[in-house]
Amino acid sequence: MIKQVLKMGNPSLLEKSLPITKEEFGSAELLRLIEDLVDTQRHYGGIGIAAPQIGVNKQIVIIEYYQKDITRYTDIGDCPLKVIINPKIIPIGEEESAMNEGCLSVPGLRGEVFRPTVIYYEYYDQYGNFFSGEDSSVFARVLQHECDHLNGILYPMRMRDISKLAFVDLN
Ligand code: NI
Repeated sequence: MIKQVLKMGNPSLLEKSLPITKEEFGSAELLRLIEDLVDTQRHYGGIGIAAPQIGVNKQIVIIEYYQKDITRYTDIGDCPLKVIINPKIIPIGEEESAMNEGCLSVPGLRGEVFRPTVIYYEYYDQYGNFFSGEDSSVFARVLQHECDHLNGILYPMRMRDISKLAFVDLN
C-alpha cells in the first residue's frame, strides 16, 4: 500500500530506529511493511527509502533503481530490489566523494553531500539471510544516505556548504 512520506520538519524523522528482532524476521507484519515501502518508493520514483520515512522507526531500507528510469543521474547502473535490514557500514580508506543527493522527505530540492567513497557493509534480508560486501558504486552512496535515516539524519544535516542546496526546478 502506498503510504504518506513524512517530510523534513517532522520530529519522527530525527529519531533513531530500532533493529528488527529475531522473532520479527519472516513475520507477516514485517513482510507487509516491506511491501508498503516498495509500493511507496516506486510510486514516488525514489531510488531508496527507509522505514522511518513512512513513520515506522525500524531499521529497514529498500533500494532499487534502473538506469533507464533515471534522468537525474547518468551512469548509475542498475540495482534490482534489495531489502536491507539492520545494516552496518564501515568506511574503507579516507577517500570521500561529492554527489548531489535528493530525498523523498525533502521534495523538490537537491544538495551536495560528501561521503566515504568505499564502504564495507553488512545487512540481513527480510528472512534473516546475512549479506556482506564492499562497494564503491552508487549503491554505496544510497546505502549511506538510507542508513542515515535510521540514525535520524537527513542529508541537509550532512552538507558542508548550504549554498549548494538548490531546487531541482529553478524556474
Ligand atoms: Ni532520503
